[in-house]
Amino acid sequence: MLNHAPSVDSGEMVHRVLDESAVARFRSATRDGSGLPNECYTSPEWLKAENERIFARTWMLAGFCHDVPQPGDVSPVEMAGMPLIIVRDHDGMIRVFHNVCRHRGAVVVAKPCQRQSVLTCPYHSWVYGLDGSLRMRPHFFGGGRHDTNPGEDAPGLVPVRHAVWHDLVFVNISGDAPEFEDHWEPFARRTKDYDFGALRYATTLDFDVKGNWKLIYENFYDAYHVPTVHPKLEVFTPLDTRVAVDTEGPWFHNTSMIQEPQPGRGIGMPMYPGLDGKGQRTEWYFHLFPTTAIQIWPDQLAIFQLHALAPDRTMEHIHMYFVGDAATDEAYAGYRQDVYDMWNELNTEDFEIVENMQGARTSPGFDGGVLSPYWDPATQHFARLVTDFMH
Ligand code: FES
Ligand SMILES: [Fe+2]
Repeated sequence: MLNHAPSVDSGEMVHRVLDESAVARFRSATRDGSGLPNECYTSPEWLKAENERIFARTWMLAGFCHDVPQPGDVSPVEMAGMPLIIVRDHDGMIRVFHNVCRHRGAVVVAKPCQRQSVLTCPYHSWVYGLDGSLRMRPHFFGGGRHDTNPGEDAPGLVPVRHAVWHDLVFVNISGDAPEFEDHWEPFARRTKDYDFGALRYATTLDFDVKGNWKLIYENFYDAYHVPTVHPKLEVFTPLDTRVAVDTEGPWFHNTSMIQEPQPGRGIGMPMYPGLDGKGQRTEWYFHLFPTTAIQIWPDQLAIFQLHALAPDRTMEHIHMYFVGDAATDEAYAGYRQDVYDMWNELNTEDFEIVENMQGARTSPGFDGGVLSPYWDPATQHFARLVTDFMH
């Protein structure tokens, strides 16, 4: 019943912006390559097409199990410009639905709510179960004549394909992305030594950035800017301990080695159980196209989530996890605050550059750039991924 076909109009625009010469640069050797053209960062029509062609068609981090801890808890979220709900069913399972009533299309759940036994539409009070099934339609056959038993074929809430990894809930709105296990396998393969089950959620840091989501995302995996933009980070993990990003399908990953622990970076918090000596000094950076980043440090997990609001405005959320009681125990409150202060400082440094570049994406003096053969193959890979989804 759902139509996920991208619009014809957006197809013409996509082929004009990502024309043959642009695509050839993304696919050539990096010394002859470039990143994406300016219009991809400034055009409202382009963002609309990204919603249709990228965000709706791949696996996206939509929310968290901790947002719906108890049966009957409901968390509304917006993905790819569409309203969804994450629901904890009576049996404890996570379910995801399009948050739109099958009658006249009202949003069913506007705000997070807890311990609901059913979901009732605010317009004409159609009642849905936590499994999405339609349960009751008051006055459906006339005043006082209710449909109390709509039956199994009645129009329930439309389910959304989803997958859960520990606390994280991913969705694939189009329903036809590759299996989640296959999508996730490059990460799972490289992180076998980490006991993610030992982690507890601590808090989320929110940032409102005046920049395109792709500038923020491309900056995530750009290690090249660290000596210039992040002086403290350069002391912690110098550039000569960093390697260029490796890519595998939707994944970008690299590592660095901790040289000098600092407040908020490797001081005071317990490490993942069972890490060997090298593991206790290694940081892993994973970036899952298009909008998720996962940073694994020996004593924390930071999940980055981007939410594109406009071509030049993005919400960035950093969801913080620590090992066991360190996530919540008062004894660790000062060390946790050091970590949050560190992320705030680091992000502020990055956002100045992102906002700087956003302004310059209107300049005819730039149209995709000239790349470093060592650091920037990932920028080309990102442009290829965008092209593959958008074309
Ligand atoms: S729109 Fe939901 S009951 Fe009418
Ligand atoms: Fe940075």
